[in-house]
Amino acid sequence: MEDFDFENRIVSPTEIMGENDNDNPLRPKKLDDYIGQDKAKENLAVFIEAAKQRNETLDHVLLYGPPGLGKTTLSGIIANELGVNLRITSGPAIEKPGDLAALLTNLNEGDVLFIDEIHRISRAVEEILYPAMEDFAIDIITGKGQMAVSYHLPLPHFTLVGATTRAGQLTAPLRDRFGVSLRLELYTPEELAKIVKRSAAILGIPVDDEGALEIASRSRGTPRIANRMLKRVRDFAQVMSDGVITLKTAQIALERLEIDELGLDSNDRRMLNAIVKFYRGGPVGLETLAAAIGEEAVTIEDVIEPYLMQIGFLNRTPRGRCITRAGCLHIGLEMPDMQDPQIKFEDQG
Ligand code: ADE
Repeated sequence: MEDFDFENRIVSPTEIMGENDNDNPLRPKKLDDYIGQDKAKENLAVFIEAAKQRNETLDHVLLYGPPGLGKTTLSGIIANELGVNLRITSGPAIEKPGDLAALLTNLNEGDVLFIDEIHRISRAVEEILYPAMEDFAIDIITGKGQMAVSYHLPLPHFTLVGATTRAGQLTAPLRDRFGVSLRLELYTPEELAKIVKRSAAILGIPVDDEGALEIASRSRGTPRIANRMLKRVRDFAQVMSDGVITLKTAQIALERLEIDELGLDSNDRRMLNAIVKFYRGGPVGLETLAAAIGEEAVTIEDVIEPYLMQIGFLNRTPRGRCITRAGCLHIGLEMPDMQDPQIKFEDQG
């Protein structure tokens, strides 16, 4: 069996090098230029305005949802709208409490500190984060035993923006310290089409409405995928026709890239196939499925499943994953007999 390569496929919502650059020209800088996520955006606009009017720092903000939906972008917008600096780090990059202390003591009053993948910070680092978030102070102990000295270090007031794909993995005390909690949702094709047109205008790529919607419809609800797909489709349009992205050129390009009308690539289809062929459509446990297709369970859970569930191809049930009739139809297979009562049972539950 061919190796799966979920990280480097074009429809991977995880970052590839360069995409996360803060000077990425495709990142909107103002809330007004940010397309979609209307609920989160409207609430955030109120919180930012209120904090500015009171001359206070914005409460700490937790952003959660699947990868590629614009959590880093939003943190940049928050800093920009507040008129402060943005410092970016990630949970795994903060190895020791001292690393966090160094970051915090270097902040200016009002700054935004963005911690990506905040669910991955260690317990020892988390202990420092609590008083930093709550009291804007940290206690540092140097030396050991009788030589130990404790310093109480006041910090500038700052706004922590934490991002995670797995809000459920945050400890309750950490979650409770965020005054604002915003869930980001997968984008609709219409919202993504607007993003594609905006990005195309910035990059000087000619694209018509139908071409933009075609790219949008195959981007799995994820702007990061839409922007990446736009650049690849441009290559085909440039080399194979007059460079304009139309419905036709988009369709030809995406066929060549083996991305189907719904944005699934061969790996998605193989996972759905495995559920039908090896497990009679399910239910199959996450770990079992992961082993069967040679993929990590977290990748399946965070990256592959959200979209398959959104389009109604997969159900997550307490007993495992089940393919739906629509999912079977899409990959051209019959719904296994055993599946029907289970799906009905789970749906009613
Ligand atoms: N680029 C990436 N995400 C975006 C968004 N939500 N709005 C506008 N441009 C974007």
